[in-house]
Parts: sequence; C-alpha cells; structure tokens
Amino acid sequence: MHQHEDGETRPFCLQLKVRETRGCKAAGCLHFHNHMENSILVTGGAGFIGSNFILQHLQPDSASIINLDKLTYAGNLQNLEAIESDLRYEFVHGDIADRGLVKGVLERRKPRAIVHFAAESHVDRSIRGPDDFIRTNVDGTFALLEEVRAYWGKLEEAEKTSFRFLHVSTDEVYGSLGAGDPAFSESTPYAPNSPYAASKAASDHLVRAYHHTYGLPTLTTNCSNNYGRFQFPEKLIPLMILNARDGKSLPVYGDGKNVRDWLYVEDHCEAIATVLARGKVGETYNIGGWNEKRNIDIVETICDIVDEIAGRTETPRRNLITFVKDRPGHDRRYAMDATKIERALGWKPKETFESGIRKTVRWYLEHEEWVRAVTSGSYRQWIETHYSV
Ligand code: NAD
Ligand code: TYD
Repeated sequence: MHQHEDGETRPFCLQLKVRETRGCKAAGCLHFHNHMENSILVTGGAGFIGSNFILQHLQPDSASIINLDKLTYAGNLQNLEAIESDLRYEFVHGDIADRGLVKGVLERRKPRAIVHFAAESHVDRSIRGPDDFIRTNVDGTFALLEEVRAYWGKLEEAEKTSFRFLHVSTDEVYGSLGAGDPAFSESTPYAPNSPYAASKAASDHLVRAYHHTYGLPTLTTNCSNNYGRFQFPEKLIPLMILNARDGKSLPVYGDGKNVRDWLYVEDHCEAIATVLARGKVGETYNIGGWNEKRNIDIVETICDIVDEIAGRTETPRRNLITFVKDRPGHDRRYAMDATKIERALGWKPKETFESGIRKTVRWYLEHEEWVRAVTSGSYRQWIETHYSV
C-alpha cells in the first residue's frame, strides 16, 4: 500500500487507461509502474470461435479487446464487421510467432489477460501437411508464452496476481474412446492421435510448464467439437449444410459411426468467459455439451432440416449421403465429462443440439454472401484436392 502521484492510496494502481510506462514519484515508492489496462488480448479472433467470443464479450462496460490474427484461410474479418468501428476494439494483423510484434502489442496495450485461440485447427489439413500446425500451435504458442512471461514479469505484484493467460484447447488431446469407456475427465492421460491433436497437446504442456516453472497465472480449457455461425465450411457441419443446399454429395468418412460430442459455439464462449473470470489458476477445465452423436446421425439431421427450410428437391437430401474412404487414424469416439466446470464454476450448456443445429442451418442458408466470400480461391482448391482421392 502506498501513495501515488495523484495523492490516492491504493493497494495497487488501478489507472486502467494509462498506456505509457511511468515511474511513480511517490515518496518511498521504488516501483516502476507498468500499469495494466482493462483490455484483453485475443489471438485468432478472426476465426470461428474467436470471432464469436469477441462479439459476445464486447458489451458496454466490458474490457476492450485487441485481436491479433494472421488472417490465414480460416480468419475472416467479415465476422467482426458489427464491431469494427467500436473504439474498444483494435485489430492487429500479425503472427503469434512474431515475437517483436507480440512484444510491441503487449507493451503498448498492457492487457490484463490473454485469451489464446490462434491455431491451425483442421485435422484433415494436419494429415496432409503438418508443418503449419507445428509452426503455429507449438512454436507460435511458445513464442507467445515467452513474450507474455517477459511482460508479466515486469508487472506489479498485485497485477501479476490478477493477470491471466487462458489457453483454448481441445478434447482431441485425450485420444480415442471405445464404445463403453467413460468420458474424458481432466485427469485422463494425454494420447493425441493426429498431428493436429499432437500439436495442441504440445501447446497444453507448454502452458502447464509455464505455470509450474515460472508461476504464470494460466488456465487451460479443453472443449469438444463446436458448431454455429462463422465456422469455415471445411468442417463437418457447415460442409454438409452447404453441400446439401447445393444438391452435392455428402462425403461421410468410413462407416459414419464415429462419435463426437457437440457444443454450440456460444455456450463454449460463455464457458471461456466463466473460466477467465473465476477459474482457479493453473487448472484445466473440460468443456462439453453432454451431447454425443454419430456422424451419420448429424448428417441425416442436417439433410432433414435443409429439406424443411429450403424446400425438398426431387428426392430427399439424405440420398446425397456417400460413404467415402476413411480418414487415416480416425478417432472412433470423443466424449467429455464436464462435471468439474459445472460444480466449480456453475457453467453448463444452455443450447440443446436440436435448437442449436436448427439455428446453425438457418444461419448458413441466410448468409450467402459470407459463404461466397470464404469459399473462393483457397477453399475450392482444398475441396478439389481433398475429396478427389
Ligand atoms: P479457426 O481455424 O476457425 O480459426 C483460427 C484463427 O487463428 C484464424 O482466424 C487464423 O487466421 C488465426 N491464426 C492461425 N494461425 C495464426 C498465427 N500464427 N498467428 C495469429 N493468428 C493465427 O479455429 P477455431 O475453430 O475458431 O478454433 C479456435 C481454437 O479453439 C483453436 O485453438 C482450436 O484448437 C480450439 N478448439 C476448436 C474446436 C472446434 O470445434 N472448432 C473445439 C475445441 C477447441
Ligand atoms: P471435423 O469437423 O473435421 O472435426 P474433428 O475431426 O476435429 O472432430 O470432423 C467431425 C467428424 O466428421 C469426424 O469424425 C470426421 C467426420 N467428417 C466426415 O465424415 N466427412 C467430412 O467431410 C468431414 C470434414 C468430417
């Protein structure tokens, strides 16, 4: 407790809007203040979950947001059009692996938290070319952690304690379950099977080590498959909606009986905000929808909803389903035990799958322009290469 230049006495300085680093001239105070702002640095905020998180978070009186995104094929600033001129929002185009850039953003904006979404996120792409997954998910997370550690190390004690680094991860790090196995819990051993899952597992381990070794106040969330608006249509649900709309074949891998747990993206974003606000430092939280479904059941449901909303074609859209060669190393089943986050933090999903999937199908059918923008060039190339063999 000491007196600041403005004469007030506070346990630590809450001048949240101060941007420059200043020495405190208060008598006896040796601190070189590096005051945090009431802002959050979001990485990968132009992607599917990140953009939903930013839109949900940016409410009157909330912290301002800096969105650092490289704008890969999966990043799309159209998702954030609604808030692009909001003074509490800043977009920074760049790579999390660019340490000079990250350092500059941290020093200039002095965020009180990082929410780390940026990643390469598509399993099939990781099978065809794992390089980018190692570069962003492993090297990028490492670079980010190093710069955050340096920034955090210069904060005052009380600010150090309140700072948070929230790492957004996946259930895929736990590997594959058999039909009768219990769902993944936070103590399930890691057993990643795809290059994507392995790269996320590596990043989770780095985050854990930065807490254990350096005391960085980290939180990790591992979530099941998300669905909702803004998901790039290389993933199962939006791909099937758009192919069904266009009367194209619906490629189901293997026998279609692989099981995933599905969570509506807005529920995931609320869970992240809950963990950020009240999660216990150093802990991990599993987030899931209590909603296991076989792929074939998902695809059939989509066909029926598209038939209902867009009107039936000559034959039901279920006839478009085509079983294709399986994904190599395809995990059979994922299931999440999300008891811990419910008991400890009071979060549970609000949306049912039935209502969430309907909203999602409707959104894709009503946002033709968004679909056109993201499905040009590199998207077409991916679809042509991936589904032609
Ligand atoms: P996404 O692929 O839709 O978006 C990723 C975003 O990160 C894009 O905007 C991209 O431009 C950006 N990005 C990629 N590399 C970058 C780099 N080097 N520097 C800065 N930005 C970069 O992914 P998503 O589905 O929104 O997933 C977000 C996070 O959530 C990921 O970490 C993913 O592992 C995790 N996750 C996703 C799901 C899911 O179902 N989609 C489920 C659980 C966890
Ligand atoms: P995906 O959306 O790629 O997510 P993840 O692999 O991260 O779970 O795939 C979800 C499930 O759908 C997975 O079991 C693979 C399957 N799938 C298909 O059957 N056909 C497809 O065209 C795609 C993209 C996925």
